[in-house]
Amino acid sequence: MKVVGYAGSRSAFSKSICLGEKLKTMLREKNIEMELYTARNNVVEECRGCGKCFDEGLCPQDQEDSMEYIRKKILEADLIVLLSPVYLNNVSGAMKTFLDRIGSWVHTLALSGKMGIVVTVTDQSGQEFVSYYLQKLLLQMGCNVVGEYKVVALEELDQEEVIERIVSNIVKAFFDQEQYISTADLENTFQYLKARFVNADMEQYKDESYEIKYWYDSGMAECETFQEVLNLRKLQCRSDVHEV
Ligand SMILES: Cc1cc2nc3c(=O)[nH]c(=O)nc-3n(C[C@H](O)[C@H](O)[C@H](O)COP(=O)(O)O)c2cc1C
Repeated sequence: MKVVGYAGSRSAFSKSICLGEKLKTMLREKNIEMELYTARNNVVEECRGCGKCFDEGLCPQDQEDSMEYIRKKILEADLIVLLSPVYLNNVSGAMKTFLDRIGSWVHTLALSGKMGIVVTVTDQSGQEFVSYYLQKLLLQMGCNVVGEYKVVALEELDQEEVIERIVSNIVKAFFDQEQYISTADLENTFQYLKARFVNADMEQYKDESYEIKYWYDSGMAECETFQEVLNLRKLQCRSDVHEV
């Protein structure tokens, strides 16, 4: 089981990154490997808005910075942890830049069959919106969000307790295989997108549009429910294991 985290802070004294590092250490004690990527140690340039991710399924900027590697790691992960500081009652600019770069995944449910955990770090305010926003985005990418943690850095002098709760959450979610369990929100997201990309008008663009082609090639177009998509992902995952 692979956990990949992204912390959207560039601060040399980042509390989000510190929390992510401690989480990684405590997960290792449970034999769960976590890789942590941060805005501080990677180059993630702002999206230039060319739209090729939507039209062609690729980002030309991936060749110029760290995103090709981080993107690959996230797509290989079973569980994704987003750690964001609250800056001016919003996600940090670094986190928003990262999200823009993977933004096209909201059309292809690219994180289906994965779980997500959202951690926000603030001094006192703004967490409700930031946590809601991050969860909503993961959901729109097909990810089953299994936990949210709001850390108030001024109060949480001892972060160990929060991290212990996150570790237990992750261990339980893996045990229960929550990546393959659909929810009402995921079903709604799936039905909304399916109606948009799989219909008689769109089928003619199957060979031209990356997104429509993806819906057909991935098998999602034939699924009636998101639970069927997850069942499919589970089967694909098993056959990958057998091939190895
Ligand atoms: C530009 C900026 C804006 C901030 N805005 C808020 C805010 O709106 N509300 C708040 O409670 N804390 C705010 N903070 C404090 C941070 O949320 C807090 O220090 C957090 O721990 C920073 O995470 P980091 O150390 O990982 O970057 C702000 C900090 C910065 C640098």
